[in-house]
Amino acid sequence: MNELQNVVFTPAHLDCRARAHEIARRYLLPQAARHDRDHSYNEDAMRAAAEAGLLGTWIPKEYGGSGIGILGLSLIVEEFSKADPAFGVAFAVNALGSIPLLMGGTDEQKQRYLPRVATGELACAFALSEKFAGSDAGGLAVRAEKVDGGYRIHGEKKWTTNGSRASLIMCFAVTDPTSKSRRISAFVVEKGDPGFSIRKEENKMGIRMVPVCETAYDNVFVPDDRLIGGKPGMGFKHSMMTLDWARPGVAAQAVGTAAGALELATTYATRRKQFGQAIASFQMIQAMLADMAMQTEAARWLVYMCAAQADAGVSVNKTAAMAKCFAADTAMKVATDAVQVFGGYGFMEDYPIAKFFRDAKILQIYEGTNQVQRMVIARNLVKEAAEHDYLAEFIPFETQETFVDQPLESVNL
Ligand code: CAA
Repeated sequence: MNELQNVVFTPAHLDCRARAHEIARRYLLPQAARHDRDHSYNEDAMRAAAEAGLLGTWIPKEYGGSGIGILGLSLIVEEFSKADPAFGVAFAVNALGSIPLLMGGTDEQKQRYLPRVATGELACAFALSEKFAGSDAGGLAVRAEKVDGGYRIHGEKKWTTNGSRASLIMCFAVTDPTSKSRRISAFVVEKGDPGFSIRKEENKMGIRMVPVCETAYDNVFVPDDRLIGGKPGMGFKHSMMTLDWARPGVAAQAVGTAAGALELATTYATRRKQFGQAIASFQMIQAMLADMAMQTEAARWLVYMCAAQADAGVSVNKTAAMAKCFAADTAMKVATDAVQVFGGYGFMEDYPIAKFFRDAKILQIYEGTNQVQRMVIARNLVKEAAEHDYLAEFIPFETQETFVDQPLESVNL
């Protein structure tokens, strides 16, 4: 971190980051390996985060949060993820699972739930993906049928992070199968709702501390006042808007993962001796460390820029996709190189770096694969190119003819 932080961040941001750092030192570093091995949740750390008032950072003050926005969330998640990337997502998923309410909920719904999310009393999950609808988020099969006084939800969701711990599950379901753009609605399912159950907890390669589940809905009744926004058909839009806002959080998890791996690699390289000297004195190791540091720092400031844009109310559709994609690819690359610096020891589970390598992989997959992020970025670029007439006139005539033959609208998005 550099001096710029005092210009970019408020004292409240810096204070939250310092509190997150302390929690990471006390509860994550010493316990991360055990929770990973046992697939057990780090209750101590989550309790400490709640007591430190960190769980409501993305929630506005009027709904009981501290109102330091997505940038505050990103700083905290980065700090946690440096020590334990799995805890980074265990924390950030509460934002992903409550942002649908922030984005689309009625004032009454926000008042009912958000203050209790901010204290940590209610944990959240986001149930969008299904067995046959992952990247194609519009292709959901889970149905919510209108009945007297509410809806009955039926079907199964896949990859529900925090599913077995959450008190509130934002469930996206089809309310109008005949509609193209208004097929889906979002509902708040509460843990104790009859018919709601956990079908399976997944056995994962990484982020083992946090449960990822199949959640099942056997004709779960939800009253009308749990339809998010009170109007059916808005679910797909709400899910996309939520992902735009939540992606800086997962990107921050990636920055923390890269930063944690880099710190471990530099610490090791300055202490491990070969040929009579620390391996950090070899130029090939130095070049690797320098590249890892450059990539991590570039990802970090892309994430901060995107988070600050979200807080300023600017559309982040493109920058969130960029931040998520670049930071996740960086985390995977840096964690891989960090294992290389550790040599044979890096391949052993006795050493902490193997876990970073395993934890990094999911970052390129969840909250939208990096292929989907590149598609979102490209779609934005193509749309922006429609404004580029002032540049088109400088492109030679032959190519202009191609423009005439193939107008921008014909680009397959
Ligand atoms: N904000 C607001 N509205 C949006 C939007 C956005 N960012 N993106 C799309 N929309 C609107 C469009 O304007 C359009 O509206 P109209 O019908 O009114 O015109 C409508 O939504 C459909 O948009 P598209 O035609 O662009 O939709 P598409 O079917 O082509 O899908 C997609 C686009 C980007 C691929 C999308 O399906 C997507 O993001 N897929 C990835 C899903 C994803 O990220 N899943 C991860 C789940 S969470 C997770 O992993 C979890 C975890 O637990 C940690």
